Amino acid sequence: MDAPLVKVEVVGRVGVLTLNRPKALNALSNEVIDELAEAMRAFDADDNIGAMVLTGNEKAFAAGADIGAMQNWSYMDVYKKDYLGGNWESLKRIRKPVIAAVAGYALGGGCELAMQCDFIIAADNAKFGQPEIKLGVIPGYGGTQRLPRAISKAKAMDLVLTARMMDAEEAERAGLVSRVVPLERLMDEAMEAAAVIASMSLPSVIMAKECVNMAYEGSLSETLMYERRNFHALFATEDQKEGMAAFVEKRKPDFKHK
Ligand code: HXC
Repeated sequence: MDAPLVKVEVVGRVGVLTLNRPKALNALSNEVIDELAEAMRAFDADDNIGAMVLTGNEKAFAAGADIGAMQNWSYMDVYKKDYLGGNWESLKRIRKPVIAAVAGYALGGGCELAMQCDFIIAADNAKFGQPEIKLGVIPGYGGTQRLPRAISKAKAMDLVLTARMMDAEEAERAGLVSRVVPLERLMDEAMEAAAVIASMSLPSVIMAKECVNMAYEGSLSETLMYERRNFHALFATEDQKEGMAAFVEKRKPDFKHK
């Protein structure tokens, strides 16, 4: 049997997804994305999982979409098959939080896949970039839209137009990544963060994720109202009673809905 393109593992309440095409620096073929989407959907539906970590290896998170596969595609090929729709697009509908643990290259579609996750923890050797312009194309999986929202128009234009790479320290300064840690600490840090999330009440975790994502979608007054209504809704949960009672009673909460 062929090795899986995405390795799947469960540690406590955390689902770990490891891109596994090391010889091609985890280049993202449709087959990789199909396996990834299937595994993520399974974790999303699994009551024993509260958060996920998506990672690659020490050299590459992912060096982009598979250039060899794309090389001879025509406009009709990509248009009719709606390349980057389907399972690629479906990843944004995963409801549980996904942390990208990035070491090495996160380029092109690899950078976009990391940005598609809820937040990025980077190893100190991580390198981010959108080098598509060198291939005669542009970012197609969110790079031109998510990057300016994450790091400002100036830096996004710089990266997208010059194809230069940004190291982990610059990425943290720019706001693309939430933390930078030594390479050997990367998985521990990401797993600890995911375990903390997985210990919270799942309805509030999902609503928090949805509300933060809404910050990119509508007008401020609409999204503030969206947040407030979700905040109100959480008062219908047993976990709100438990969380607040635990604080008042100076003990740890024991959430029912994980
Ligand atoms: C297919 C890739 C690949 C990719 C690397 N490889 N990136 N194969 N698609 N995106 C393969 C190489 O062909 C090579 O295979 C092996 O991985 C190792 O790569 P090397 O180039 O030998 O490694 P190195 O010299 O260390 O250089 C690393 C690198 C370089 C700087 C990351 O590989 C590189 O520039 N890669 C392409 C980065 C890129 O342009 N990404 C954007 C893709 S377009 P062999 O068989 O020769 O050993 C894109 C579209 C986005 O992502 C929209 C859709 C998501």
